[in-house]
Amino acid sequence: MKYKVPVIPGDGIGPEIVAEGMKVAEAAAEKHGFDIEWTTFSLGADHYLETGELVGEDALKDLSRYRAIYLGSIGDPRVKPGVLEKGVLLAMRFYFDQYVNLRPVKLLEGIWTPLKDKGPKDIDFVVVRENTEDFYIGIGGRAKAGRSRDEFEVARTLYDVKFGLDVESDSEEIAYQIGMISKEGTARVIKYAFDLAMERGKHLASVDKANVLSDIYGFWREEFERLSTQYPEVKTDFNFVDAITMWFVKNPEWFDVVVAPNMFGDIITDLGAMIQGGLGLAPGANINPEGTSMFEPIHGSAPKYKGMNKVNPIATIWAGAMLLEHLGERAAAEDVIRAIETNIKGGKVRTYDMGGSATTSEVGDDIAAIVLKEI
Ligand code: IPM
Ligand code: MN
Repeated sequence: MKYKVPVIPGDGIGPEIVAEGMKVAEAAAEKHGFDIEWTTFSLGADHYLETGELVGEDALKDLSRYRAIYLGSIGDPRVKPGVLEKGVLLAMRFYFDQYVNLRPVKLLEGIWTPLKDKGPKDIDFVVVRENTEDFYIGIGGRAKAGRSRDEFEVARTLYDVKFGLDVESDSEEIAYQIGMISKEGTARVIKYAFDLAMERGKHLASVDKANVLSDIYGFWREEFERLSTQYPEVKTDFNFVDAITMWFVKNPEWFDVVVAPNMFGDIITDLGAMIQGGLGLAPGANINPEGTSMFEPIHGSAPKYKGMNKVNPIATIWAGAMLLEHLGERAAAEDVIRAIETNIKGGKVRTYDMGGSATTSEVGDDIAAIVLKEI
């Protein structure tokens, strides 16, 4: 069996971490008797600065022939923030309609968590983040630039000044951004989360802010309730997004599968990453179950560490395991995760963020060797 997998090393530390991920995936392939043929796609800052192109139609068409893309990281200080993130990363998530962003929050054995008195048994859940709608659709704008306030507002400004409130200018300029969710877009991701809950602990927590943003998230909640009737075995609850950040810290053991709209999912998964030991350990998958999916660490491109062979490759190696599982190589994927755990428990070959002094490639070598050695 041979799998063809496109690789986008990307920017910053991307090439270094993805190289280790490929090394470990190849070790798992060797052990389990399959081959991986990698094809590199050079997208990201260099490509953009050389050609002015973010991600071309040709590359997208080419990539859409594959089931799973392996991605390092996107983002570079030479380019204004947001240009590459939106133009490359989000462009791909949207183009391939990767409507599920799957983010396991699992504390591996031997990892330190900042949560006092919590261990691997307490921190083991999956966040299913909606990945194509909400405030990420890119509809927004600015208006009234250069228009000054009317008399009433000038009077109010004077009032503010009198009471020492900071008034920057008399401009009326506004900025707005629109969040949109569709019935189909909401239903498909919630359904995915229910199906996942059926395979796991049969508990699904929904995240919203239906108490304030009641149009958009009231709708989300209605869809959740409607679908829940099709899964009578799954226990459900609703969580306001502000409250769930509190419960992730206080009672992470309550959670099994968590489903969240795009932006809240983005925010709570950085918190999730921290309780599982840090961004260097948090993998993610952008999934279109019928199309092209994409596997990446959830952290960014850490430009200040670029080329230093210093950062932790584990999140990317773990994302590689998720990729193997997606291709149907579950035993190989499990081996990779076990090898990560063995490396961590060994305690010797660790990068600086985990209190060690090993290099990126030493960690990759160690995990690849464990994959090949362990039966
Ligand atoms: C993530 C990132 C991205 C997001 C950015 C870089 C566009 O924060 O993958 O969580 O907001 O989705
Ligand atoms: Mn994020």
